[in-house]
Amino acid sequence: MEQNLLDKVAIVTGAGQGIGKGVALRLANAGAQVIIAEYNSETAEATSAEILALGRRSLAYQIDLSKVEQIQPMVDRVVSEFGRIDILVNNAGRVQTKFMLDLTPEDWDRVVDTNQRGTFFCLQMVAKQMIAQIPEEIRNSDRAPHSFGKIVNFASISGRSGRPYSTHYSAAKAGVISITKSAALALARYNINVNAVAPGVAPTPMWEQIDNERGKLFGTKPGEAFREFVEKNIPLKRASSIEDLAGAVAFLCSSDADYITGQCINVDGGIEMD
Ligand SMILES: NC(=O)c1ccc[n+]([C@@H]2O[C@H](COP(=O)([O-])OP(=O)(O)OC[C@H]3O[C@@H](n4cnc5c(N)ncnc54)[C@H](O)[C@@H]3O)[C@@H](O)[C@H]2O)c1
Repeated sequence: MEQNLLDKVAIVTGAGQGIGKGVALRLANAGAQVIIAEYNSETAEATSAEILALGRRSLAYQIDLSKVEQIQPMVDRVVSEFGRIDILVNNAGRVQTKFMLDLTPEDWDRVVDTNQRGTFFCLQMVAKQMIAQIPEEIRNSDRAPHSFGKIVNFASISGRSGRPYSTHYSAAKAGVISITKSAALALARYNINVNAVAPGVAPTPMWEQIDNERGKLFGTKPGEAFREFVEKNIPLKRASSIEDLAGAVAFLCSSDADYITGQCINVDGGIEMD
């Protein structure tokens, strides 16, 4: 694989499993040093060990991104150990399948705090660090001559339309798309690119949870909700692989995407087209 991210310092949140793990390994294969910012310390260590085995530097950092006060200490630790931050992939997310009329304030906070609040404040604190890394004469000018950082947020196709059985998740992901656009504008003069990807359906522990929750609500058998969704909704007639998503993120983190900012790319086999 091309080493187009050689020695870049990347933080990938929620990279202990699923899509985040695939993204972390993909960036490491492209040459990056990768920090695994993850709630589950065991899975964080396991992903980090795989990255070290590739010959890259790595750090497993246990964090609950819904607790904003935990984010700045992580940024400080990464800067003290790695010297800088070039890439942030805001991948950590939580889902819940429950009818809109049954949602409680606790359900709302649990899902929105990680997907939206955590994503925003992680972006904000890392962006401040990226700006501080820019040489002063460029930082104070009205235009930076090349990209000084890449931020990729995980939205979802759920953020593109309504979801009566995961209204809080859908709202949070719509918010992530909006945050991506606002941050792209706020950071444009520093030439920090901010984009998002919106996955459709990928076979991860998150989808196992959705399949399980839908089974309890609708009586579907294990795997049935997943298969039905793929058959009914995906023009390309297959779920995405982790690699489909990791490839899109790696592209957005590369210099090939220097002129792309404020976009949310659907990586969903053609479900959504706007
Ligand atoms: N799998 C899909 O089909 C799908 C579809 C659309 C969007 N997405 C989005 O893609 C991203 C990754 O999804 P996935 O399927 O790999 O999920 P997953 O549930 O399999 O993995 C999520 C990871 O994030 C970590 N995490 C959750 N909350 C955290 C917190 N507060 N602090 C730190 N870490 C936390 C978990 O421990 C876990 O390791 C999520 O943002 C998700 O919403 C996934």
